[in-house]
Amino acid sequence: MCGIVGYVGSQQPSGRPLEVVLEGLRRLEYRGYDSAGVALVSPGASLATAKKAGKLANLVEEIDTHPMPAATAAIGHTRWATHGAPNDVNAHPHVSGGVAVIHNGIVENFATLKAELEAAGVAFTSETDTEVVAHLVARAYAQTPDLTQALRTVAQRLHGTFTLLAVHGDDPTTVVGARHDSPLVVGLGDGENFLGSDVSAFIASTRDALELGQDQVVTITPTEVTVTDFDGTPVEARRFTVDWDAAAAEKGGFRSFMDKEIHDQPQAVADTLLGRTDTTGRLVLDELRIDEAVLRAVDKIVVVACGTAAYAGHVAKYAIEHWCRIPVEVELAHEFRYRDPVVDERTLVVAVSQSGETMDTLMAVRHAKEQGATTLAIVNTHGSTIPRESDAALYTHAGPEIAVASTKAFLSQITAAYLLGLYLAQLRGNKYADEIGQVLDELRAIPDKIQQVLDRAGRVREIARWMADTQSVLFLGRHVGYPVAMEGALKLKELAYIHAEGFAAGELKHGPIALIEPGQPVFVVVPSPRGRDSLHSKIVSNIQEIRARGARTLVIAEEGDETVRPYADEVFTVPQTSTLLAPLLAVVPLQIFACELATAKGLDVDQPRNLAKSVTVE
Ligand code: M6R
Repeated sequence: MCGIVGYVGSQQPSGRPLEVVLEGLRRLEYRGYDSAGVALVSPGASLATAKKAGKLANLVEEIDTHPMPAATAAIGHTRWATHGAPNDVNAHPHVSGGVAVIHNGIVENFATLKAELEAAGVAFTSETDTEVVAHLVARAYAQTPDLTQALRTVAQRLHGTFTLLAVHGDDPTTVVGARHDSPLVVGLGDGENFLGSDVSAFIASTRDALELGQDQVVTITPTEVTVTDFDGTPVEARRFTVDWDAAAAEKGGFRSFMDKEIHDQPQAVADTLLGRTDTTGRLVLDELRIDEAVLRAVDKIVVVACGTAAYAGHVAKYAIEHWCRIPVEVELAHEFRYRDPVVDERTLVVAVSQSGETMDTLMAVRHAKEQGATTLAIVNTHGSTIPRESDAALYTHAGPEIAVASTKAFLSQITAAYLLGLYLAQLRGNKYADEIGQVLDELRAIPDKIQQVLDRAGRVREIARWMADTQSVLFLGRHVGYPVAMEGALKLKELAYIHAEGFAAGELKHGPIALIEPGQPVFVVVPSPRGRDSLHSKIVSNIQEIRARGARTLVIAEEGDETVRPYADEVFTVPQTSTLLAPLLAVVPLQIFACELATAKGLDVDQPRNLAKSVTVE
């Protein structure tokens, strides 16, 4: 959840450490924005810290008012509060005996450790679990003045999840990091090195990076990076190059990251499709290093994911079952391992995650592996934990998604899951090559069609602005339109703080129709009339049922579908495509609606209240 940055540069103190860390925090702020803080180390001047509750802007103002010294090393933190209120005192860094520590995660045994420290006379100033770590590292350092060894010693005592960064006032050219179940990557510079929760922390300075494994400690100096396990045994870290640059992580003229990312969607889908076929048109998923015999033997697929990624899984279920005739279950990752799921070596567990760090999803992957299942990650973020711990990874190429609300990741997750479904169908002989080729051609046409939806979004924006005072919106869909409805509702809840529910349209008459009263706005996702006829006519009946009870119907329908017009207060059209691919278009007006309505309410669509982009606690 929290964002972490570390930097160490030349022996000459300067403003660069602070600049790098503030820039990194700006890019990581999507991970949490309850408070922010920095610690600087400079030769002779020892340790200086600044921290402030609220968004990063508050910290920047504080530093502008009380300038910090030139430095050689720095660490910075942006917080999503777990232990203790989001105030100045609980903000990180936490300092003890010359050591400053920042932390992402939860130290589950902090109460025991705190009691032990208090018994030894240590006084606490904050309510955080992190302060325990600062005191422990300071005490370990007092015994052996080696910061790396001190952090290793302490890491072994902690239960829970953590990425920790530490600096010591006596050591101006060293930053040490440790990770257990929380992310940390290293950026490799020239005469300077970086640490970050993800690569966006240092993307403005370098695209060369190192991926750290579980239970590792890293020490960076201006010229060296040393990685060991918690026992001090040296380990080799995998080097990789980030395939996007700093410009991709900027707003590019849009008023919000979310708005930009909605407009990135044609490219995100196109990039996710790119290079997936050979010269004969056969699908080749080179990254999927799973034995073909294992994939042929799969008799069940379980998708594990959370939030929007889970809705992408729901959409994929319809397609994969239809194309491959393999049963697909979709399970919220946090429910999966607690219900003793039936998975074995013939089960393919597919983890879908933009960040690749969602703790619930990671734990589901681990549980699936313990049960002998094959695990495959559909992930957007290189260097993240879920693909590293899975048997294989299929990367989406959506580029950095900064806004907390997921948009382009959703479309590229669906696209990647479709590629997986088609690949399995090809491998197992469920579909002829020309049938697969036809779907691929339709998929390749999707980016242009998304662009058409974006180009004609004026009306949906207008309606959204008119509806800024709305108290409740319902969303209905059938078949693949059902997860689209749930995603439309989630977008509105998280961005506009409006009560919203997504229902399967057929379920209405079993209860939810009681919610309909005169004026109640209801979005209805209508399937193509060219698809299965009964599906279309059933939803047209559902629209009539709610209209008869006074609902205000806002209908997403295919171009040329005139049958819905008599029953709709508003129709937003999307270009024609086949039923299974329609979610890639139908969700776009719903994303725009939520973004526009929240903006009209004066809300921050990139950083909605109480949320964080990367949910690295269970
Ligand atoms: O990084 P992930 O895809 O694993 O994240 C999963 C969910 O936390 C995420 O999709 C969340 O629901 C978004 N805020 C939705 O917009």
